[in-house]
Amino acid sequence: MDDLVALKESYQTELASVQNLSDLQQVRNKYSGKKGILTAQLKSLSSVSTDQRPVFGKKLNEIKEFIESGLDAREMSLKEDEQEKRLLAERLDITLPGRPGLFGRSHPITQILEEIKGIFLSMGFGIEEGPEVELDYYNFEALNIPKDHPARDMQDTFYVSPDVVLRTHTSPVQVRVMEKRRPPLRIIVPGKVYRCDSDVTHTPMFHQVEGLMVDTDVSLSDLKGLLALFIHNLFGKNTPVRFRPSYFPFTEPSAEVDIGCIFCSGKGCRICKTTGWLEILGSGMVNPRVFEMAGYGPDEFSGFAFGMGVERITMLKYGIDDLRLFFENDLRFLRQF
Ligand code: DAH
Repeated sequence: MDDLVALKESYQTELASVQNLSDLQQVRNKYSGKKGILTAQLKSLSSVSTDQRPVFGKKLNEIKEFIESGLDAREMSLKEDEQEKRLLAERLDITLPGRPGLFGRSHPITQILEEIKGIFLSMGFGIEEGPEVELDYYNFEALNIPKDHPARDMQDTFYVSPDVVLRTHTSPVQVRVMEKRRPPLRIIVPGKVYRCDSDVTHTPMFHQVEGLMVDTDVSLSDLKGLLALFIHNLFGKNTPVRFRPSYFPFTEPSAEVDIGCIFCSGKGCRICKTTGWLEILGSGMVNPRVFEMAGYGPDEFSGFAFGMGVERITMLKYGIDDLRLFFENDLRFLRQF
């Protein structure tokens, strides 16, 4: 019996000094393992005298239970501690700011093109397209620019063959549409055009938006009203607008449209070449010869047309002075828009 009391005490001190699961396993082996002290004690029961045996046996069982439940409880709490330590070590710092993804966006030319289209769509215009590799006939001839016409020198043309060109403007689509449809017509033609030209304000490819409105009594004041509305939408409603007489073979009369310089508010600066005005588009009343070539009767209809360069408008709107920046695709430039 004294042995049993001593056993219980030594077990308790050893259990108290256990630090981790492997220490615990050693204690478990020593006391309740197959070769442990308790097992040996149980085996030795047979050598205890018959009258002592029940008391001794009962006591031994109590201690066995006490020891084993103590070991189990300690094991559980050690496992919990270890789990907690692991969780702490693996903790994610969710307060760290995330890394932002890279978002794509439209090219500034596309943005302005979309804005221009949106304005005309809201005024009831439809969108038309035509081929970039164009017949000389549509690019020049049908627009009242015959072979020997000096206006051909105004546009440095890429010839594919003597009869085929890369279109130098979007105006040929006017004729293609009129050949297919009869008025009323209200269309714009956005698209790429090509000229053999390259410097800070010219690239061999650029974008234009052409416009055409034809009906039975379209007047010059309709043209002025519409373009003023367009310009006020695009550049702000206080932008001054000026119509300046000009010449295009496919319109008569023709006018170039200027806006008050948005850089110097009309005072005169380097960008407006001290005139206070910036030219932004060409326009005019459709020349009766163009109607005729499209197959309309001589006095059947009247209409106006206009054409603008998208790069130029974008440069003016954002104050960019080198056109080539649009085509280098340097993200540091493009991300600003
Ligand atoms: N096609 C002309 C150009 O590229 C621009 C233009 C001027 C278009 C007057 C028109 C217009 O429709 O009426 O320079």
